[in-house]
Amino acid sequence: MRAAASARGALVGTALAASHLAADPDYAQLAGSQFNSVTPENEMKWEAVEPRRGQFDWSGADAIVTFAEAHGQRIRGHTLVWHQQLPSWLTGGSLSPAELRQLLHEHIATEVGRYRGRVGAWDVVNEPFNDDGSLRSSIWKGALGPDYIAQALTWARQADPDAKLYLNDYDIEGVGAKSTAMLELVGSLKANGVPIDGVGFEGHLIVGQVPPSLQQNIARFTGLGVSVEITELDVRVPLPASAADLSRQASDYGRVARECLAAQGCTAITVWGFADRYSWIPRFFPGMGAADIYDQQLRPKPAASALRQAL
Ligand code: XIL
Repeated sequence: MRAAASARGALVGTALAASHLAADPDYAQLAGSQFNSVTPENEMKWEAVEPRRGQFDWSGADAIVTFAEAHGQRIRGHTLVWHQQLPSWLTGGSLSPAELRQLLHEHIATEVGRYRGRVGAWDVVNEPFNDDGSLRSSIWKGALGPDYIAQALTWARQADPDAKLYLNDYDIEGVGAKSTAMLELVGSLKANGVPIDGVGFEGHLIVGQVPPSLQQNIARFTGLGVSVEITELDVRVPLPASAADLSRQASDYGRVARECLAAQGCTAITVWGFADRYSWIPRFFPGMGAADIYDQQLRPKPAASALRQAL
């Protein structure tokens, strides 16, 4: 997969967990050989890097960055500004809006600054929209107002002028209220001179439900002059997975990859974990699973061949 992607100048990535890299040599072997881009699954989130105020723990993030550099892989930083996986000292309710603003600025400057020149792209703001396209209420919108997105992008650019800056969200793969809201936001950021390089379509899909308007939607964004990446692709199926489900899943993976790569400006496809052995899906979507391209035994599934062929 990696060779096929590199040969055409594309990126094929995976989310990685530092704990599995350390404990599971077969997982680490595939992680290093099959992908030319990696995203830390949890290790760069605020709760991971600053579990107590002012006390930083970069061990997980550093482990993934070191692994990626040793294997010549691009790193996607994930994620700086989100409403989830925040440390409890931050969400406890005792901080004023002015303090929260200051803390967010410091957080972005510290984390982006630490990995300056090493992280190729940052998910600066994650999941800012509600399903209907309105801006999600969050601690950040509450403290800084809707301008928190422009502010975060500006701070990220100051901390690493060379990193590509992304907004990332789910259920924006097809044309709809939420993707249109993202499109309008990107248009207005660009019109106001706010730094923005790309949009991440997460791609947490259900088997057989690749949005028919994916390609058209990618084109709406690249038409604005920003890049698109598929940042968290997985295709969940009802458990137990049948052979027919796995073959439909393979077509879905292939289709997403082909439609991305057909567009100038859609440059990377990242799977959200490559193996069913460690997938987040069964914990978050009970009754669903088998969403990844390698199985519990780390054997390649039909989806792995489909993705490689598309690349
Ligand atoms: C998920 C991780 O995979 C889980 O391990 C964790 O418990 C929760 O977060 N959208 C995102 C990712 O942007 O950060 C989420 O990752 C999945 C949904």
